Amino acid sequence: MLYTKPEITKPPRTVVLMLTSWLAPIVWNGTYNSDILNAQFHQRKVRIGLTVFAIKKYVIFLKNFIESAEKFFIIGHKVHYYIFTDRTQDISKFSLGDGRSMDIIEVKSYQRWQDITMRRMEIIWNYSLQRFINEVDYLVCADVDLIFSDHVGVEILSDVFGVIHPGFFGASRKEFTHERRPQSEGYIPFDEGDFYYTGCYFGGRVQEIYKLANFCNNAMLADKANNIEALWHDESYLNKYFLHYKPTKLLSPEYAWNYYYGSPTLVQRKRLVHVEKDFKTIRSK
Ligand SMILES: *[C@@H]1O[C@H](CO)[C@@H](O)[C@H](O)[C@H]1NC(C)=O
Ligand SMILES: *[C@@H]1O[C@H](CO)[C@@H](O)[C@H](O)[C@H]1NC(C)=O
Repeated sequence: MLYTKPEITKPPRTVVLMLTSWLAPIVWNGTYNSDILNAQFHQRKVRIGLTVFAIKKYVIFLKNFIESAEKFFIIGHKVHYYIFTDRTQDISKFSLGDGRSMDIIEVKSYQRWQDITMRRMEIIWNYSLQRFINEVDYLVCADVDLIFSDHVGVEILSDVFGVIHPGFFGASRKEFTHERRPQSEGYIPFDEGDFYYTGCYFGGRVQEIYKLANFCNNAMLADKANNIEALWHDESYLNKYFLHYKPTKLLSPEYAWNYYYGSPTLVQRKRLVHVEKDFKTIRSK
């Protein structure tokens, strides 16, 4: 394979941080070569699971999510979709590309959307142990109200990866919307925190996601027992986890963009974008 030799004095990007202080790469456009990465991951014959929850009215987002994933999500490798839903009868059949497969798994729903979002961690934790560990090497967990609109490949994979929230990549610690009440398991003081990570998308090796989901689920249950709920639900607990168990790779906000934040030049590609939605109708039953 022919490609340009890496140059020690010529970093590919100079205006964005490409490495954290704990030496985890931050993935931006222009910092990696897909051909090299694909060859490396093909040698290991990796299998990737993509979990997504289509609960209640959110089921309407599934079609665009899957169809766009078929165009852009880790193309050329083995991908298995795990669709969790309370409305199996509303899920249409998808035609999937080579090496790609799907399971539809029925789960119960909850009255409050806050519980629906938080309980996902319990389900991911449970299925990691029961199934995912036997079926895939990596898990990627994403919200369903997202659309893939550009390449998302094996460059995202690592032991555990988090995605920098599009609204906070230039923000100070004080501006991060972490949980600030010390009574909550999600608590992060104002003088701590590295990045503000989005709760809509994370992943890693199954064993690592098992630990992450277990932590977040236990934190949520402990708070529930004390009648407290972290400000941003599962996202708050995820941020707490990443503070103490640092991700081994970070994805730049290219990987979870929201046009609400405009189109800054630093963010050259919008690979996965939030669907505009009317919260009132969608979250009602
Ligand atoms: C992404 O990076 C590549 C390689 O550096 C560059 O050629 C390309 O123009 C960039 N894409 C955009 C949309 O800026
Ligand atoms: C846990 O996983 C098992 C087997 O995959 C399933 O039968 C069970 O309903 C799951 N429980 C929860 C709480 O998700």
